[in-house]
Amino acid sequence: MSNLNSERVLEVRHYTDRLFSFKTTRDPAFRFVNGQFTMIGLEIEGRPLMRAYSMASSNYEETLEFFSIKVANGPLTSRLQHIKVGDTVLVGRKPTGTLVQDALLPGKNLYLCGTGTGLAPFMSVIKDPDIYDRFDNVVLIHGTRTISEQAYRGYIEDELPNDELMGELVREKLKYYPTVTREPFVHNGRITNLLASGKLQEDLGLQPLDPANDRVMICGSPALLADMVKMLEEKHFDEGAISKPGHFVIEKAFVEK
Ligand code: A2P
Repeated sequence: MSNLNSERVLEVRHYTDRLFSFKTTRDPAFRFVNGQFTMIGLEIEGRPLMRAYSMASSNYEETLEFFSIKVANGPLTSRLQHIKVGDTVLVGRKPTGTLVQDALLPGKNLYLCGTGTGLAPFMSVIKDPDIYDRFDNVVLIHGTRTISEQAYRGYIEDELPNDELMGELVREKLKYYPTVTREPFVHNGRITNLLASGKLQEDLGLQPLDPANDRVMICGSPALLADMVKMLEEKHFDEGAISKPGHFVIEKAFVEK
């Protein structure tokens, strides 16, 4: 399995019966751009069973972190959810993905929009000092059904702003907007509706979405991506790629696992 590294599980956290995250060792030769994903998995009956996962850790951290759903009959996650500290996880050596800063034109505000485990790539991005060099405001929007699914809320609100390396930049530029759709919370409603109505921008003291100033990264279900793209294209936002940077980039949060 020359294209795979074997990494050791260092920590596992369970949030709900649908969500968990874990940290592993990191091969020093494994390099990635913040926002990218790689294939990870387990060896099952002598063969690797792999699925795509975004790195939730940043590229300067010594360990790797992943944020996963649990699907009872999912080929990989039905097993992966039972991993313990000391177990081995396979990590593909070829990271890739579209949620990268170089696929976006320069701008004033960067909106990071994730639903469910679609938060994962943005956990990597918000710990990247470069992003705060490029943008005046970094707006992290995480949409979930329930409050308990707001997995990284404590980290984003309490730990990151006090981080030795990132704290000052985060306190100055990161605007975090967790929103829940199926029970009362500080913010309620779907990301699409909150952005389209201007409610979110009003809450944060920002202007309505405008391709002259705003850049958007989106990670979530196919339905979320379709609705977001429709809204952005109506506002004359163009999709970007590294070969032709634009106003927004999208990636599916991998849910069939
Ligand atoms: P809702 O509760 O109204 O379905 P899921 O766990 O199913 O991936 O959903 C995560 C979050 O994404 C939920 O808050 C859900 O809202 C929301 N969501 C699902 N589909 C869309 C969509 N097409 N546009 C915006 N938000 C969506």
